[in-house]
Amino acid sequence: MARIIGGIASTHVPAIGKAIAEKKHNDPYWRPFFKGFDYVHYWLAREKPDVAVIFYNDHGLNFFLDKLPTFAVGAASEYRNEDEGWGIPVARSVPGDPDLSWHLINALVADEFDITMCQDMLIDHAVTIPMTLMWPGERWPVKIVPISINTVQHPLPSLARCLRLGCSVGRALETYARDLRVLVVATGGLSHQLDGKRAGFINKDFDQLCLDKIVNDPEALTRYSTHDWVELAGAQGVEFLNWMAMRGALTGRVTQVHRNYHIPISNTAAATIVLENASTAARHAA
Ligand code: DHB
Ligand code: FE
Repeated sequence: MARIIGGIASTHVPAIGKAIAEKKHNDPYWRPFFKGFDYVHYWLAREKPDVAVIFYNDHGLNFFLDKLPTFAVGAASEYRNEDEGWGIPVARSVPGDPDLSWHLINALVADEFDITMCQDMLIDHAVTIPMTLMWPGERWPVKIVPISINTVQHPLPSLARCLRLGCSVGRALETYARDLRVLVVATGGLSHQLDGKRAGFINKDFDQLCLDKIVNDPEALTRYSTHDWVELAGAQGVEFLNWMAMRGALTGRVTQVHRNYHIPISNTAAATIVLENASTAARHAA
């Protein structure tokens, strides 16, 4: 049976890709951010996931404003990246797990989520930057199932809807017959706004509230509307929808084992968390 070992959430700012390419890990600007991944590396080396289900938002590489699904699930055997114009290296391709993808797609549709199924899907910096941060080595040791959530073109799905999407994915993972160790990933956030009068907006207090609530009380966050969220977290702070879905997919008792928060990275309040799912936490306590 598949087992959900835990969740990782990470910011996906493209400038991180440039800093990695230029080996700036120890520069004063970057060090507090990259140091936040030391524990992530230790945890991943210990937990050895086989597959990562990644909730993220596409920024115009695969979907554009002409056609933008609310929820889209990748069902490809390989996912390619392309130049998005950020001046960062094009990332290597990532292997997919089509059998798991179709299992999740079947379960989501049975749960009345009208998702878009993508047998061909480019992945943008929102997947490749967190992958590079989590596994900085020569190869990526997991297969992925990318699940894209629209955080770009309003109306966006609600926080509650994204939490439920994650719950549906979590339930489906638990009924998957293959013996896989599954990591659930969310990318994006926390507060940031890239354009308009409030460009550069960051809200540290609200970010702290989100970081606290996402662990033990994600339901509490569902009382905010999308428009509240834009006001409180900035226009692109709505990427937190991906975090809600990740949290929903964690089925057991959840423990936060790592948190790093650093402002700013580019225009963004950068945050990294590692959450363990009950059975993993219990095993290490034993
Ligand atoms: C930045 C943040 C993002 O989430 C993104 O997708 C692109 C850029 C930034 O802060 O520069
Ligand atoms: Fe983004």
